[in-house]
Order: sequence, then C-alpha cells, then structure tokens
Amino acid sequence: MSDFDLVIRGGTVVTASETTRADIGVQGSTIAALGLNLGRGNKEIDASGLLVMPGGIDSHVHLAQPAFGGPAMADGFETGTRSAIAGGNTTVLPFAMQGRGESLRQAVEDYHKEADGQSYCDYGFHMIVANPSPAALGQDLPALVASGYTSLKVFMTYADLVLNDREILEVFDAAGECGALVMVHCEGYDAIRFMTEKLEKSGRTAPYYHAVSRPQSVEREAAHRAISHAELTGVPIMVVHVSGREAMEQIRWAQSRGLKIMGETCTQYISLTAEDLKGLNMDDTGTKYVCSPPPRDHASWEAIWNGIQTGVFQTFSSDHCPFYFEGEVGKKNPKARTGFQWVPNGIPGVAVRMPILWSEGVAKGRITANQFVALTSTNHARIYGLTTKGSLAPGFDADIVLWDPAHEVTITQALMEHGADYTPWEGFRVTGWPRATILRGEVVMEEGRILGRKDQGKFLPRALSPMAGRMAGAALD
Ligand code: URP
Ligand code: ZN
Ligand code: ZN
Repeated sequence: MSDFDLVIRGGTVVTASETTRADIGVQGSTIAALGLNLGRGNKEIDASGLLVMPGGIDSHVHLAQPAFGGPAMADGFETGTRSAIAGGNTTVLPFAMQGRGESLRQAVEDYHKEADGQSYCDYGFHMIVANPSPAALGQDLPALVASGYTSLKVFMTYADLVLNDREILEVFDAAGECGALVMVHCEGYDAIRFMTEKLEKSGRTAPYYHAVSRPQSVEREAAHRAISHAELTGVPIMVVHVSGREAMEQIRWAQSRGLKIMGETCTQYISLTAEDLKGLNMDDTGTKYVCSPPPRDHASWEAIWNGIQTGVFQTFSSDHCPFYFEGEVGKKNPKARTGFQWVPNGIPGVAVRMPILWSEGVAKGRITANQFVALTSTNHARIYGLTTKGSLAPGFDADIVLWDPAHEVTITQALMEHGADYTPWEGFRVTGWPRATILRGEVVMEEGRILGRKDQGKFLPRALSPMAGRMAGAALD
C-alpha cells in the first residue's frame, strides 16, 4: 500500500517565502504533505538537484482573440496552453474580449466555446470591456463577477477598444461596486494617432517607428491619468505591461501616497529594445518585435529591475499575444508593409517568461528564487483570486514545476510549442529551464515532451481579488 499517489523526492522546495529541502506527497490532485523522508508513492519522481516550485501562473496572455480589428491570432487555447506548459506554467488567464456591438455575457459565452476541451493547463478569464453600456456595467458585470470572472481590462488606446475618460470612470466605479479588479492598458490614444500621422506623412513608416509613435511620455501620461481616475473613484487598479522608468515612477508615486495601485511588467521589457524593431536594416523582420508598449532601451531595463526589486511590480507576465510572421495574416502582411500602424501588435512569449526571468533575474543575482516564485506564480494567484493555486502547501493544487537552475539553453522556435512561426527570442541564451511541469498531480511536460492532453485543463471560476473593492477616502465617500 502506498501512502501517496505521487511523491516528488529529494528536491529543494522554493515558495515565495521559504527555501527548504523537502519531499512533496500528492494525493489525487492536491498536495497532501511536505516533509523529509515521506512514505512511498504509487509514482515517485526523483527531484535531486532540482528546485521544486509552484507552477507558473501567467495572468496576462491573449489566446483565440479577435485581434484588435486586425488579423487572427496564431494561438488558440490548444497551442497557446501547450506552449504554456512547455514553459513551466500550469495556469493562464487570457481575455474574453467584448466587441463594440456585443454584450459582455456573450463575449464570455463565446470564449468558453474556444476554450472547452482545448486547454493543456488550467485557465480563468479576464474580461475586456470595450462597450461600457449601462447594461454591461449595471447587469452583466456584477453577474459575471459573481460567477468567477473577477477581473477586467480597459484600454486607453486602439481604435476598437479605447475608452474615453468618462467611460473609464464609469467602469472603475462599476468595478468598485461589485469588487472586480481592473487592469489598465496605459497609452494615450490621441497622442499615438498624432504621432503616427506625423510619422507617416514624413515617410517614416518602417516598423521601428512604431516605437517612436508611442514614447514613454505617452505611457506615463496615460498611467498618471488612470491613477488619478482610480483615486477619484477609490478603485484599485493594476497598470499592466509597464515598459520603463516613466510609467513605473507613476505607480511608485501612487503607492507612496497610499493608493492601491499595482504594477505588472513583462519579459520583453527586460530583454528586448526598440532597436530590435529595426530588423536587419529597417526591414520586415522588425515587425517580429512590434508590441505595445514597445520595448525601450537598456536604461529602461535597469528601471524595470529597480521596480521589481523595490516591490513596485507585483506580477511578471508574458503578455503573450501571438501573430504569424509570414503569410497573408502575418506581421508582414501586404497592408502591414505599407506602414507600421498596420502591423498587428503583440509577440509570443508564454514559454520564455519563466526562463528569461530566472536567467536575467536569479542567475544574475538581481532577485532571489523566492522573489521569482512570487513574481511568476504566488502574486498572480493572490491578486487574481486563484485560491488553490500559487503555493506548495497541503490543500493546494499540486501544480508544480521542476526547475533546473543551471541548465543552459539557447531559445529556438522548436522549443516554443506555440502556433506562431517564430520567436522574438531566437538565439537568446538562458540559464535555468523547466525539466517537468505537473498539473494537479499529473506530469504534463517532461524534458520538453508534452505528455498532457488538451482536455486536461479546467476552467477556474475565481474569488474576488483581496486587492479590489474601494479604497478608503474616495472623493465621493
Ligand atoms: O502589443 C500587445 N501587447 N498586444 C497585446 C494587447 C495588449 O495590449 O495587451
Ligand atoms: Zn494591453
Ligand atoms: Zn496584453
């Protein structure tokens, strides 16, 4: 008779708060025990020499999304979540996007059809609110939040998604009423349009000018505006995909004033620069790096590290938003060749998020392994209401990554398992790599081989975020 279904033996367990030598005993899908010399398991995994960490939670990925008025995405749930488990993740939170003429409820229902039976890892949905009608905010939103869709994103740019200030205030206020957590894409639409038209008129249409059209001031201004609206309504927000010093300092300033403003940054902002958008010679290869906000420069990397080290940022995500490079719907499609404004925005990165943060962060002494776990898993679980995820303790889901901290890998497209036909990090060298991914007690990836099934991931209704609700001292109190 075995004591456990699975025992992971001989590894070093790393959580957000501790590093200890311990075995992990799993019963069914749940962690049952941690300790030295645990009894036998039906199945045993030797984790000697490896770190045993909570499976990654990537709270910012885009899958199967009608792409901002542009071409279809390269990943639906099947390939996107394959890529996620290849990179050590066990949960993703993509976005159910409301079209302008669509109800929020319909957007969520349609998105379930994309995900059902197609996911290799567990998943929940954020919502994207593009049409904040009285019905959406007064009826659908509270009902959906009560059903476990407890976070939403609003955009301050993109023609099909941008909300004006009044609309943003209405969304924040409605979210405050029902306890939804609001994520905000902070880039100012009018400033970007102004810059884009000026650049186009002067013939500066190559992919690099995407970065010129949305400099840090555009992100900083929008971040400040969003923070001011959060303060006015008393509603906490998460400023997502922060790219450099200027927006980071706005969040730090807000936090220093006691406002509940959170920050997220992403892989591209510590590993890519705007120079990458130049391609080989202002050519189409630069489109491979077009995302928003754009990657900046080395000084911005340092600022982002400073924000990570000092706690300005709580989450480190991929903002996985995959498009093909080649073909009629690719990043260099015929229309995109006429100017950067037509290049679909977004890059694939769910598989490289953990290796690059480990390599650039832990291996280079910038953060500890415990901070790594907080930034890639635990904080995502806490902030987004995933109450059984993000930690290794009895009662939690047995979502685990076995991590080899010394394994050196050159990132290539072949390792990505995603639907896109390229990776922006081709040739990038990392130290630290997932050897196995375990989802609720079952090994779904081992040494790069996908062993899981696409119907294995389950939908996760989420609890209200402990960070959401109303801040004390709102103007209308
Ligand atoms: O370029 C990006 N990041 N596209 C994804 C959409 C978004 O704003 O997160
Ligand atoms: Zn965004
Ligand atoms: Zn995004």
